[in-house]
Amino acid sequence: MSSTDATPAEDMLIIHGGTPLEGEVHVRGAKNLVSKAMVAALLGTSPSVLRSVPAIRDVEVVTGLLRVHGVDVELDGDTLYMDPTSVESAGVEEINVHAGTSRIPILLCGPLLHRLGRAFIPDLGGCNIGGRPIDFHLDALRKFGAVVDKDADGTHLSAPNGLHGIRYELEFPSVGATEQVLLTAVMAKGTTELRNAAIEPEIIDLICILQKMGAIIKVHTNRVIEIVGVDELKGYSHRALPDRIEAASWASAALATQGSVFVRGAQQTDMMTFLNVFRSIGGAYEVNDDPNEGGIRFWHPGTALKPVALETDVHPGLMTDWQQPIVVALTQADGLSIMHETVYENRFGYTSELRRMGANIELYSDCLGGTPCRWGRRNFLHSAVIAGPSKLHAADLQIPDLRAGFSHLIAAMAAEGTSRVYGVDRYITRGYENFEAKLLGLGAKIERPTSTLANRR
Ligand code: EPZ
Repeated sequence: MSSTDATPAEDMLIIHGGTPLEGEVHVRGAKNLVSKAMVAALLGTSPSVLRSVPAIRDVEVVTGLLRVHGVDVELDGDTLYMDPTSVESAGVEEINVHAGTSRIPILLCGPLLHRLGRAFIPDLGGCNIGGRPIDFHLDALRKFGAVVDKDADGTHLSAPNGLHGIRYELEFPSVGATEQVLLTAVMAKGTTELRNAAIEPEIIDLICILQKMGAIIKVHTNRVIEIVGVDELKGYSHRALPDRIEAASWASAALATQGSVFVRGAQQTDMMTFLNVFRSIGGAYEVNDDPNEGGIRFWHPGTALKPVALETDVHPGLMTDWQQPIVVALTQADGLSIMHETVYENRFGYTSELRRMGANIELYSDCLGGTPCRWGRRNFLHSAVIAGPSKLHAADLQIPDLRAGFSHLIAAMAAEGTSRVYGVDRYITRGYENFEAKLLGLGAKIERPTSTLANRR
């Protein structure tokens, strides 16, 4: 474990591994839709209602950001009420309280420019999985007519001549930059044509929300989205689509621990690529499409898992956020598997901890097993070869980011012996609702250090 790490000792989960996870978990709305839907509420002249909101820290962060801008936000169970009728500018200091906590502040630019004529964006946070530049965002905003000034505090934006529709092509189908263009174009003067747009299910759900608000958005073939700007948008009422990253995380945990987990809320349409991979590895699943109690049961077949060659990609490809839990499951497959990461340049950091647990994983800078991508030319270690099956043994693990963190939890549950996983409160709670209660419900043998329990009383 890294000696330079500043994670407090009590931010730790003790996991006694080797027990198959068995039972049911419920996934609520997708983190990567809910946070954007909350930003969209800023554009309305009347209140919005968002249902199936998970209790995760990213929702708290966006709630804080909306509140400092005068939005009245109330949570009742898993329903969020947002009243933006009194939107107002916030001070740099108030906004900077949220600096470094998330990537969402960058998406407030368009809505704030429309509502107030100016915006201030603090330094961004989010997972450290690559450079994560915001050049596409700022370039598009400038083309819409925004004036962007960076200073030591953060980024100040204004729109002295209003925002006007653009024709714009993204260099890469970035999720965030597509959302930026959508949230800005819906109320810009004239029509916007976005080429090479991301079309992830969360983006389509955001488009559904904007359409409910009164926007005119056409999704054409070949990643082209056309947005006709309107003068006014009203509030919306919407149920967030389920979190397909969380669903895949539990599915991979079932496979790696030789268990069986019914993920209530998981939706086949959003997970087709994952389901194909799951079946290719040898995992079994069954879809229950009951509108209320439906979901997908995932289980280990009891026979050897098969190695596969995979690469991550933008939708409809294999999600980069599915990569880490799948890699843990592949440590148990019988033979050589390949994972080529094409979305982020630095998303295999977590494998060093898996290696310490006995996994046989080597990283390469070549584009292994598939299409050459932009990281191969730039010498990033972005391909992994996993030789299995490996008997994993317990270790002390330091979580480096959200998705890698959950994969550490899966590895610790699959391993023989007692592991201590550090950074669970800091990272896992950002995107996994009630993960400890869910683990306990699945029969995982986990506990908190005594000092933490004492503090919590
Ligand atoms: C979103 O990040 C998600 N985050 C990520 O999930 C997810 O991994 C990612 O999309 C890809 O699906 C949220 O929705 C909050 P991108 P985002 O812009 O929008 C490059 C999680 O764990 N790029 O699609 O920030 C970028 O560096 C998180 O839930 C630029 O070069 O991702 C990356 O290589 C982690 N310039 C690629 O595009 C830009 O201006 C894709 O990033 C923007 C992006």
